[in-house]
Amino acid sequence: MWFQIDRSNDKTLTQQVYEQLRQFILNGDMKKDEKLPSTRELASSLGVSRNIVLEVYDQLVAEGYLIVRPRAGTFVAPGSLFQTSGSKESLQKEEFIHNKNQDIIDFRAATPAMDHFPRKTWGRLAKDICFDVPDMIFGYQSSDGLPELKEEISRYILRSRGVVCQPHQIMITSGATQALSLITEILMRDNQNVAVEDPVTDEMRTIFSYRGAHLCPIPVDDKGIQPEFLSEESPPGFVFVLPSHQFPMGVTLTIQRRIQLIEYARRCNSYIVEDDYDSEFTYEGTPVHSVQGLDPERVIYVGTFSKILSPALRIGYIVLPTGLVDEFKKLKWYTDRHHPSLEQLILTRFIREGYLDRHIRKMKRIYKQRREALVNSLKRHFPGCTILGHAAGMHLVAEFPNVSFTQQIIDWVCKHGVKIYSAEQYSLLKGSHENKIVLGYGSLSVEVIEEGVRRIKEAMVSFSG
Ligand SMILES: Cc1ncc(COP(=O)(O)O)c(C=O)c1O
Repeated sequence: MWFQIDRSNDKTLTQQVYEQLRQFILNGDMKKDEKLPSTRELASSLGVSRNIVLEVYDQLVAEGYLIVRPRAGTFVAPGSLFQTSGSKESLQKEEFIHNKNQDIIDFRAATPAMDHFPRKTWGRLAKDICFDVPDMIFGYQSSDGLPELKEEISRYILRSRGVVCQPHQIMITSGATQALSLITEILMRDNQNVAVEDPVTDEMRTIFSYRGAHLCPIPVDDKGIQPEFLSEESPPGFVFVLPSHQFPMGVTLTIQRRIQLIEYARRCNSYIVEDDYDSEFTYEGTPVHSVQGLDPERVIYVGTFSKILSPALRIGYIVLPTGLVDEFKKLKWYTDRHHPSLEQLILTRFIREGYLDRHIRKMKRIYKQRREALVNSLKRHFPGCTILGHAAGMHLVAEFPNVSFTQQIIDWVCKHGVKIYSAEQYSLLKGSHENKIVLGYGSLSVEVIEEGVRRIKEAMVSFSG
């Protein structure tokens, strides 16, 4: 038994000895019927008074962990073995998994570079704001968000994404996740059908189905969603699209199809929900403007700061057609009152003082380098593979001739220290994307990306399933 006694600890010595001895018994480090050292022996080896050990033994006898056999000594009672969550074995197991995971290169998509969060600026603004804001900021505010932030966002999305709106049409939400959850709740009241691109992001799709939506998959080709597959007989309450950079396929919706979509929504009294999650990062050509700019009364635009800054901020927003604003404000109020005000003020200054534009410029350079490293490594190790989609965002899709990315091969690659994701897992109608994988590069350095692709190659060469 190895006790750790710390006299500077806030816990009393009795507490320390009691907790550790109890843990030895629960863990099985002291087995049933094992005899404990005498109180004098243990006290002297721990350098504590005998009274402390006596007190601990009495307590453990009273609780049933120990039994006293007259003239024989004190023993561990039967039935005291129990793996608590903090037990040594489970801690060792957790540590093992942690260490193992540290070495795994995870090409998970939609993960930004967390090592580049502008900590200094954000921290300074947070401190200034906390000291400087008037007292009323610490009270309840309007459910749609602070006017100064909505003003900054309206200017930012007009110049960067061509989104046309007045600040009062904007609602600040807890990420795109809450935005889509509120949209689903309101638009599904009259119509349970939701049309989604196929393949589609599993997380967003789950938000709809969790609320009871009937999903209508609409196929995506190299020009984006194909509007001719939308039903004229039973149109959906809304069509969910990622027109700037489809997830996962990475394609950009053509202008002809954007117009077709809007005409469909007008004809069928439906809405288009546009999720514009990572379009700030475009590495070739000029970024295409939003669909919302074509018809602000038919398109509900969803934006997020999760990719440009950090998912931890939980700040997103919805740009609503004017007729829907009041309904959304009510629902948001009954959901969580409003988004945290201090965070909103920090972001307001971050945008107003030019830090956001600077951060985006810097991250664009970094992501471009990471993307190039991934493309070059793939071409070097797999000359037959094709990179699909537009050079944008933080992930790409690689198509391999004559390979089917079954769970078996994905598990095999994982055994070689790399996590990859098959495009097929995002499909609703199965069978079209088995030879493609989705590789996220946002949070991986150039060296890690190169090592990751090398490991994929090593795994695939040795795969014999
Ligand atoms: C398509 C898509 N949109 C938006 C988001 C961002 O969600 P949130 O703003 O809630 O972090 C994600 C997250 O992975 C996503 O995959």
